[in-house]
Amino acid sequence: MSENTANTKNTKKERLKQIKRFNAKVYRQYTKDKKRKIPVSDYITEMRDADNLLEFDNLQAYFYTDAGTVKAVDGVSFDIPKGKTVGVVGESGCGKSVTSLSVMRLLQGPQGQIAGGQIRYNQESMQRAVDLTKMPMDAMQKIRGKEIAMIFQEPMTSLNPVFTIGDQLSESIKLHFPKMSKQEVKARCIEMMKLVGIARAEGIFDNYPHELSGGMRQRIVIAMALSCDPRLIIADEPTTALDVTIQAQILDLLRELKDKINASIMLITHDLGVVAEMADYVVIMYAGKVVEQGTAKEIFHDPRHPYTIGLLKSRPVLNEDVGRLYSIPGTVPNPIEMPSYCYFKNRCEKCMECCSGEYPATIDVTPTHKVNCWLYAQPSAGSEAGR
Ligand SMILES: Nc1ncnc2c1ncn2[C@@H]1O[C@H](COP(=O)(O)OP(=O)(O)OP(=O)(O)O)[C@@H](O)[C@H]1O
Ligand SMILES: [Mg+2]
Repeated sequence: MSENTANTKNTKKERLKQIKRFNAKVYRQYTKDKKRKIPVSDYITEMRDADNLLEFDNLQAYFYTDAGTVKAVDGVSFDIPKGKTVGVVGESGCGKSVTSLSVMRLLQGPQGQIAGGQIRYNQESMQRAVDLTKMPMDAMQKIRGKEIAMIFQEPMTSLNPVFTIGDQLSESIKLHFPKMSKQEVKARCIEMMKLVGIARAEGIFDNYPHELSGGMRQRIVIAMALSCDPRLIIADEPTTALDVTIQAQILDLLRELKDKINASIMLITHDLGVVAEMADYVVIMYAGKVVEQGTAKEIFHDPRHPYTIGLLKSRPVLNEDVGRLYSIPGTVPNPIEMPSYCYFKNRCEKCMECCSGEYPATIDVTPTHKVNCWLYAQPSAGSEAGR
């Protein structure tokens, strides 16, 4: 073995030791915090805007792994207004699911943890605002599934194969409405199944998941999410695994139901077509950060960030002969060693000298439209850049 190889091996070993020592410290703190009794005053907060249902404020969600700290979500801020649909878009691995799991406090500890920031929730049922990141788990259980419901990314695996549809649908209704009789719970389940367009609801009640088609299973998952009249529905890629006809039906259904129960939707997807159809506001994420956000009109008609422009260019458009579809060159930087400059720099066609400096600050294009890009830091360069 040469001296150089031996040195590299030793440095690697030393680095791994350091990471393990650091992680052990973080895990110990996590276990200690978990045991601590959290007073209400610790998580009572105030909304920045009373019309918002949820406000992400500089959210940081990290995974402390043996390879190092993965900053899956690093300083995410955006709002979900009451009764509106917010589309969260970005390439695979940009932190969309981790953001939504943070709302539900479902990150797998001790590796996955919320490292900083706030998620303020307007808990109208109790006439208060709470910071979900600091809430104790027992208080969280009362919100989870009842006030904030989630439709998970994998529709085929979110149902348990050994329980009947009826058992699984009844579970959260029983938990959140303990005074309901058995018959009332069953009636509610049937009502929810009919609401999501399942024709033979009584028959399906005693079926097992494998006896249903993919589209029906996804409807059941949606029925489960809606069964307690949630204020916020988080839909993580609700239609990815379905064919286009069923996809359109499920999206129509979600839109219809949202108006019926006057809920807000956080719609996570990498499909801009779905967002264009559904969302009032759009948040574009890249490598754990929000790079642009605005109303759907602003994002689709006046995109500013080169990444958003690239995403829009790479989308197929009907009746337009474009030859090959555009694809954004390069890949996302390693999440363990993120650079200090703009994460999109190495893939950006508009890259300038200043892009190698600090990470770009948030620029307000309009009161609702925000972008993080050096192109707009100087007003003179901003007016025509990026078009
Ligand atoms: N349990 C975990 N341990 C370590 N890293 C994780 C874990 N879960 C997620 N990550 C990392 O966090 C980052 C964000 O992942 P996330 O699942 O939020 O992506 P996503 O935007 O939902 O992607 P997709 O569109 O593929 O669902 C990725 O870099 C991923 O590798
Ligand atoms: Mg995901």
